[in-house]
Parts: sequence; structure tokens; C-alpha cells
Amino acid sequence: MPQKKFYITTPIYYPSDKLHIGHAYCTTVADAIARYKRLAGYDVFFLTGSDEHGQKIQRKAQENGVSPKEYVDKIVASFRHLWEKMSVSYDDFIRTSEARHHEVVQTIFQKIYDQGDIYKASYEGWYCTPCETFWLERQLGEGNCCPDCGRPVELLKEESYFFRMSKYQDRLLAYIEANPDFIQPTSRRNEMINFIKGGLEDLCVSRTTFDWGIPVPFDTKHVVYVWFDALTNYITAAGYLQDRGKFAKYWPADIHLVGKEIVRFHSIIWPIILMALGVELPKMVYGHGWLVMEGDKMSKSKGNVIDPLVLIDEFGADAIRYFLLREIMLGSDGNFSRSALINRINADLANDLGNLLHRTVNMVGRFNGGVVLAPEEREAVDEELAKLAQETAAEYERAMERLEINAAIKGVWALIGRANKYIDETGPWALAKDPAKRGRLNTVLYNLAEVLRIVAILISPFMPGTTPRIWQQLGLAGDPAAATLHDAQRWGLLPAGTKMTAPEALFPRIEEKDEAESAPQPAAEPPKPALPQLPEVSIEDFAKMDFRTARVLVCEKVEKADKLLKLTVDLGGEQRTIISGIAQHYAPEELVGKDVVMIVNLKPAKIRGIESRGMVLAAVNGDKLAVVTAPGMEPGSKVR
Ligand code: MSP
Repeated sequence: MPQKKFYITTPIYYPSDKLHIGHAYCTTVADAIARYKRLAGYDVFFLTGSDEHGQKIQRKAQENGVSPKEYVDKIVASFRHLWEKMSVSYDDFIRTSEARHHEVVQTIFQKIYDQGDIYKASYEGWYCTPCETFWLERQLGEGNCCPDCGRPVELLKEESYFFRMSKYQDRLLAYIEANPDFIQPTSRRNEMINFIKGGLEDLCVSRTTFDWGIPVPFDTKHVVYVWFDALTNYITAAGYLQDRGKFAKYWPADIHLVGKEIVRFHSIIWPIILMALGVELPKMVYGHGWLVMEGDKMSKSKGNVIDPLVLIDEFGADAIRYFLLREIMLGSDGNFSRSALINRINADLANDLGNLLHRTVNMVGRFNGGVVLAPEEREAVDEELAKLAQETAAEYERAMERLEINAAIKGVWALIGRANKYIDETGPWALAKDPAKRGRLNTVLYNLAEVLRIVAILISPFMPGTTPRIWQQLGLAGDPAAATLHDAQRWGLLPAGTKMTAPEALFPRIEEKDEAESAPQPAAEPPKPALPQLPEVSIEDFAKMDFRTARVLVCEKVEKADKLLKLTVDLGGEQRTIISGIAQHYAPEELVGKDVVMIVNLKPAKIRGIESRGMVLAAVNGDKLAVVTAPGMEPGSKVR
């Protein structure tokens, strides 16, 4: 069967300023969809780019004392840098200042003019330069402001070319009504239907008051209106008039993903241009919501923008991508906040996913020398886990096909949660103690590794940098980029005998200082209280105490005791049980594998009926507690 194609676009961005996290949202969503489609076996063409012409850019360049081309070159380079840092896998980056694009825009302008759908008239009307949009007087907001961005509009009076949009109004309406998927989500579709029913005016498609644009081929004092120019990028990049084979393969676009405020351009002006050209319409224009900060759209004029590069440097691209995709329902607005981002990183990435991987790799390392053995004895709980994994992968496909990205992610995290619970239910550390239970242990460890293999594939569209890291720790052969959705939908593909590598934290927990702590400190620090004085001890007294490092093998809660953990530690030559009052500061699995420091010759004590031989050392300050560790030291090393 020939490979199915999938063509997805983002808007092309204005290089008038640096991009903020709101722009990055749109591109991240498009990238996740493009990667998912590749995973599902499609031949994907993913396009992004820059919308470089127009009065706004020309003014900015003037303000900066450079030519428009010099100005945009620099900013466009910063776009590409950002997309690279965000792992955006575009197949083409189109710049509207490129010759390939000029040629197409001029040819189609001429064609539409020749057929009588573009005509010359004089224009008097209102123009919003930041939005590069014409408005009718009745559409203006209070105080003659742009109804979209609220900034003042300018009265323009010039001779212009007009595009006969009104002629196509009924055809467009009929098309939208006959194709329910053409404008999505439905709320935006209804808005557009009402807008068209209100009557379409012919559109002014040329300007004479500046020259940074594509000249009208038959009247070069005019440049083509920037939206007419910009929208055409979608067919230029697909090879229109220039690469017949490519155009036949990829056009019509499957999705134009755009922000909600530019749905109107994409679902009214753009289809009418295509109708005038006799070119098939795109299959879908999807209007996503905005990323807002405390309810306000992020924008430079409001001073509430967040630089994605700063966030990437602090948290990593995958964490940011995960947050944007998980937190915001596609189509709705979503709130961005640093604390919400940190919560997601800690809860979903460090805890749920990170712990599942860490616990699994750690147990396979300790109990089976790092090798995943073939499953042996099966129980109902194993079947349940395997079934959930398969259902998750199938439901994921259904959700992604409906563009319900956050539903797909939620499903994967439900599987991760189930697998973490499976560890607690099956208790591999207890199985490992009993030679008669090796078969059962092998099954449990295999199932955990298999869930992680499936999870690694399913999250690859969202966190492309994390998949290879999980793959590598699991010791899986081959390039994870070659894995397919089909591979994630089959249980049992992980080869028995796979040798895992050492566990490594995927996403370290972020300990955010609270505001009081991070606030600037007063210049002169108040004097610290003197240390309480205990009687001096001699070096001989000190030498009587035997401090050693001990590796925590098993750690469990002591039943009916909120504060106590029971640790089984390896001291090199022997294993010991210790009861430690640190349960309110550590989850049991956090300690497993740690090299703690303990006193080994403390008189044994019975706590809750369990003999505790030794004591783990911890630093204590008020409510805070941290176990003292000596990472990587051989168990039983002397501490002096
Ligand atoms: N150049 C036009 C698009 C032409 S497409 C033929 C344009 N550029 S833009 O740079 O202003 O915006 C590009 C995209 O970024 C838009 O889809 C817009 O909705 C999106 N976003 C800008 N701020 C945003 C948020 N705060 N949140 C989500 N998306 C945001 O429009």
C-alpha cells in the first residue's frame, strides 16, 4: 500500500521581535502532531517559516537603522535557533522573502487579475499596522482602536487593488457547511459562518505607502498586501507551479494549525484565493487557544512575555514541551505559570515516569545483574497490566487522530501510574529474597521493562529527547527513532536477555525556594545563635564509633508507624536491618540504591518488635531532614 501523506503547517511568524512561549506553544503542538503522524507511518511534510514583509517590519527596521532584509535575517536566525532548541522537526522553513515565493505570489496575483477577480479602485479605510489588518469603521473598538489588539488604527487613503471576495461568499459558505471538519473546533466554525453571513467586502490587496513587499507584477508602485503574500506560503512550499510531483503529493494541506485570532484569514481569505485559482482547499483549519498569563494574552506590548530560551535553559526542552501539551486542551486557552510548570515536572516527570524507570532499572540491576529475563510464572495482575498497555496504545491512537493530545498523554500517565502500583503490589524486593520465587520475579521485572518500552515510544512525539534516554537505560537495541506506533501496540516485543545500563535520573526534582527564601537578603545578616555546647570528646572516644557507608537494598514502611522506615542495607560483608525515623521525609523507593552513612556499632534496639542494628545519620534542621550519603562508595567503607 502506498504510504499516506500528511501535510501540516504552523503560521509563519512575523520577525518583528523575539518569539515568546505563546508562539512556541503553536509550533510545539504542530511538531507533536507531525511526529505522531510519522510514528503512525505517514509521509509527513511539516512546514513553518517567517512572514517577513509589510509596514510593521519596515518601520521596525527603520527604527533600528538597518535595511528590512538585514533586520529580518537576524531575527529569522533566532527563530531557527529556538526551533532547534525545542526539537521542532520541520521539513521546510519558508521565508516570504525567498525568490521561490516571490515568483508564486506574482504569478497568482497576475492570474487572478487577468481573470477579473482583482481590480483597481481607490481606498479609504482603517488599518491596524501591528496586525496588518483592514477594518471597517463599524468594526472598530472604542476610541477608533483595532478590535483585535486594541491599538490605534490609521486612516489610509490610497489607490489600491481589490480582491473580489464578495463574488465567492456563497460558494465559501456552502463549502463550510458541507465540510464540518474544514474549520475546527466547532465554536470557531460557527463564528466564521456568522461572519460570512454578515457579508464579505472586497479586500484591499495592495499598498503604495511603503515598499517592503512583493511588487504587483503589472504595477510596481504597489506591493502585495502582506496577508495575501503570507497565506500563499502554504502552496509555495508544497511546490505549487514549481514542483508538480511534490504538489500533487502533499496538497491539499491536512491541517493549517493557527491561533484563534487568525482563523478568519485562514478560513475566509485563504480559501477564496484558492477558489479563485481553482486549487483544492485545505482539509482543515484548526484554531488553537492562547497561552495566557493570569488571563491576559501574552504579548510584548503588555510586558508579560516569557522567553522560551530562558525556560529551556532552566528546565530543558522536553519538560517545557510536556507542560504545554499536557496542561492545555487544544482549542482552549491555557494558563502559563512557573509554579504549574514545576508542579508538572516534579509530579509527572520526576515522580511518576522518573521513578518507574529508576525503580525498574535499579531492581533489574540488583536482582538480575542488569539482565531482563524471560517472563515465567504469570498471574492475573500481569494480564491486567499487559491489557492496559495495549488499550492505552490503541486509545492513544484514537485520541491523537482526533487531535486530543492531552487526552493521549493522560492515558500514557495512567499506564505509568498503574505500573508503579504494580511494583508495590508484586513486591519484587520480597520475591528476590526467596529463591523459589525467581520465576515470578522474572515475570514482574520483564513486565515493567515492557511497559517502559511502550511508554518510551508513545511519548516520543511529545518528548523526543527523553525517548532515547529511556531506550538507552533499558538497553534496547536499534534506533528508537525507527520504532513505530505498531511497535507500541504490541505486547512482548522486548527481547528477553536485554541488558540494561545503570539507572540515571531522567528529570531531577526541582526544589523551588519559596518567595521568602529567594527574596533579597538584608545586607547585614543577623548573627547566628551559638552552637549548643556538648562536652568535648577525645579522638580515642571518637574512634570508638564505627561509621560506615551502607547501600540500601530494600526499604519499606513499618506498619502502623507514620514515622518509621525499615531498611535492609548491605555493609559489604553482611546485611542488616535498621529502623529509621525518616518516613515523613522520604518515600521508601527514594532511598533504595542510596549509599547512606550509618553507625554500625550502636547497641541494638528493638523498635516496634523489630531489632534495629545501627543508625542512619541525617542532617536535621527544624523541620528539614536529609540523610547523609556517600554516593558511589563501596558498601562498608569506613567514614572518619
Ligand atoms: N504572520 C502571521 C501569520 C501568517 S500565517 C500565513 C502572524 N504571526 S505572529 O507571529 O503574530 O503569530 C504567529 C502565531 O503565534 C499565531 O498563530 C498566533 O496565534 C500565535 N501566538 C502568538 N501569541 C500567542 C499566545 N500567547 N498563545 C498562543 N499562540 C500565540 O500572525
